Amino acid sequence: MFYAQPYTRDQAVPAPQPLHNARATLVGSSKKSRSPESRMEETRRQAEHRVDNFLKYADRYRLPFTHEDLKAKNNERKPSLKGKYEKVCTSLDKPEVASRPFSAQYYDQDGKPLFFYLGNRWLDDKESEKPIIDLGDDYDKQYVNRRYEDMKTGQEQGRKLAFDGIMGNALHSFHESTQKLCSALQPTVTGPEIRHDWSQDDNPRVMRYTVEGSDKQAEERKGVIHLVQGWIQQGQKDKGLFLSSPLVTSSKGIGEVKCYYNKTSMITATLAIMFKKLFPASYKKYKTAFEAGQWFETDPGPWLGRAIVYKLQGALHSDRKDFGPSACFPCGFFSGGEMLVPQFHAKFTYLPGHVCIFESADIWHKVATFQPSPHDPTRNGTTPGRISTVFFFPKDSYDILKDKEKGWGRLTNYGNSGELKDMIPQ
Ligand SMILES: [Fe+2]
Repeated sequence: MFYAQPYTRDQAVPAPQPLHNARATLVGSSKKSRSPESRMEETRRQAEHRVDNFLKYADRYRLPFTHEDLKAKNNERKPSLKGKYEKVCTSLDKPEVASRPFSAQYYDQDGKPLFFYLGNRWLDDKESEKPIIDLGDDYDKQYVNRRYEDMKTGQEQGRKLAFDGIMGNALHSFHESTQKLCSALQPTVTGPEIRHDWSQDDNPRVMRYTVEGSDKQAEERKGVIHLVQGWIQQGQKDKGLFLSSPLVTSSKGIGEVKCYYNKTSMITATLAIMFKKLFPASYKKYKTAFEAGQWFETDPGPWLGRAIVYKLQGALHSDRKDFGPSACFPCGFFSGGEMLVPQFHAKFTYLPGHVCIFESADIWHKVATFQPSPHDPTRNGTTPGRISTVFFFPKDSYDILKDKEKGWGRLTNYGNSGELKDMIPQ
């Protein structure tokens, strides 16, 4: 397809406002618990129960390497490594290669947690003390009776599914809140970069989609928004931490973001419970550093950063500038977009609301090609395409924050205005 207009970085092809004014993402039952505090408590209680079931009943696999092996290999920084993984991704990113929609837990050779996929499970598959399956070199083992087609066949036979990810209503509200934020702050793409595939689009800044019931085509801007409460300016670690630019560069910034954090807080709290139960040691570290760096009280944490990847295609990468595990999930209307993990030949179906929490600094990953679904104009104003939200903690920020007091970032402007001890009125 050829575009007559080239579209520059600043040219507006805006993300539209959703029709509803982005309701809060309610997870807990509004009937049982009415105040925001009790709803949050209910959300956390439900999340704990669901993660406990995930840990008990989801398939468990042992990988034939250690986390340290992966780190050592990545630190060699050999270009051939990426080439090797790219080949695996190419072999997986084909419609005829089956994907896995079923939840799974992956541990390294020493039993350390590496990767969790929170998708679907069979409700009747409640074998207690599920044995851990050694994958060895036979990665096909993770697909036995666990392909998307197996799920469809089982459903036709009347089997019921449990869901470990982000549930429907909460997910739809999250989509509305995210689109509203992106309509106010406008995501950008500055040029080719490692996480997003610039090459496969005929226009990397614009997504085009069809509209149901008409022969019209619509266009929408693509890009990324980085919300980080305490980020170093590029290559200037010695200058300390600042709020990332989308938070402050427009008159809408802080207000819109604060509201977005508030409206998405129950989903963030749900992810935090997953994180706490799946990576307890990392969670503890993040929480202390988050409390030192947190600027917005409406964000429950413990991730200091959030990247909203708005309708962009993914590229193969590892997040080596991040510290420890990150969490991500997609929302929107699209086909394709599976999560590919070449180090253990995994292809997860990765439907809206399916969650990945993993050691993303050391585990390479790529989102497979996706196509936006046709737009249904009778919907709530949310438009087609795929939006991914990544919750992460930059390593440089962690290094600065790990031994600081709670509230340090907000009270001292990240140390740029002195230290807490000097600010106590005499
Ligand atoms: Fe990533």
